[in-house]
Amino acid sequence: MPDRRALITGITGQDGSFLARLLLEKGYRVYGLVRRLSSPNLSNIATILDQIELIDGDLMDPSSLNEALKKSDPSEIYNLAAQSFVGASFTQPVLTGEITGLGALRLLEATRTHAPTARFYQAASSEMFGHVDREPQDESTPFHPRSPYGVAKVYAYWACVNYREAYSMFVSNGILFNHESTIRGIEFVTRKISDGVARIVTGQANQIVLGNLDARRDWGYAPDYVDLMWRMLQSSKPDDFVGATGESHSVKEFVQEAFRVAGIEDWEAHIKLDPKFNRPSEVYNLRGNAAKAERELGWKPRTRFAELVGMMVAADVARLQTTRDARAG
Ligand code: NAP
Ligand code: GDD
Repeated sequence: MPDRRALITGITGQDGSFLARLLLEKGYRVYGLVRRLSSPNLSNIATILDQIELIDGDLMDPSSLNEALKKSDPSEIYNLAAQSFVGASFTQPVLTGEITGLGALRLLEATRTHAPTARFYQAASSEMFGHVDREPQDESTPFHPRSPYGVAKVYAYWACVNYREAYSMFVSNGILFNHESTIRGIEFVTRKISDGVARIVTGQANQIVLGNLDARRDWGYAPDYVDLMWRMLQSSKPDDFVGATGESHSVKEFVQEAFRVAGIEDWEAHIKLDPKFNRPSEVYNLRGNAAKAERELGWKPRTRFAELVGMMVAADVARLQTTRDARAG
């Protein structure tokens, strides 16, 4: 087997840590770009630290990207790093544009210079569709982003298409709909709900404070989606693919299911609404059609909504019970 070497930006995040495990299982040498923080944030990759190589760098800093490419000499590059929280993009729009938009361009440019034959995956997003005029959304649906994050992802998407067309580089956009897991960042609504329900179950809280309960999302399971990323780079040609379950649910349905699996009947008594969690411009409804990924890459998501909610709630309850028992004991 040829030497397979992958560079992952965003390796400390949800998707990066699942992707690193998948690539290790497949026999890759895995390199991860990590930025300097005042306290290291390596918990998601703690159990594989001895199997991967971390390289210091930041999507804001071109010289660090050049060095990372020279050190890792990758055959595949997965650009997962971003300021990925839509809510924060309204309060830090320029930073989001710098990292999530221009950051992708900096990495493309470093790739063109130092690893022009490497295959490049860009973490594009269903948030690019934004204010949708049709349902479900697929690769031909027009973009109408509704947040500085969405705008930055559209910029990065077109930069990738441009490098593919201008320089014949193997660059592919994965237009992925929301995907979650037990290690989802705590500020995203699914994890905020599973963690909140677990706090109620373990007697540490009585309420979850949320924004718009009517927003609908196509929620899948992150490990299914990193498999799609990998498949996209094994294809014979670069292209853009939607990854989605084809099912949408409201935030309210997520809340109801989370309380149901926890055995709490009166969910409404535990939910408080606060407009501070509403977005200046909301994305009301996303539902994807991943037929192209199934047809051309043989990809299908395996985890459905109820299973996802159940696993997230169970993991948070177990985690909080363990910490409570440790404190008590
Ligand atoms: P995440 O958990 O928020 O991870 C983001 C990663 O980016 C972290 O490793 C973070 O490092 C890194 N990062 C942030 N700023 C950086 C910088 N300036 N330089 C280098 N690294 C930086 O996000 P995720 O859910 O895994 O998502 C992965 C990618 O897919 C993101 O690009 C996201 O926008 C996109 N996406 C996600 C979804 C989804 O539903 N999860 C759907 C569509 C697209 P630190 O640990 O140092 O913060
Ligand atoms: N975060 C959050 N917190 N969202 C809330 C809350 C709350 O208290 N209450 C309601 N919501 C609604 C938001 O308004 C939004 O409509 C929906 O829940 C989902 O919000 P998030 O979980 O923050 O995710 P997102 O859809 O905005 O963005 C995620 O998915 C994108 C793909 O479509 C992120 O992972 C992005 O990085 C990703 O690109």
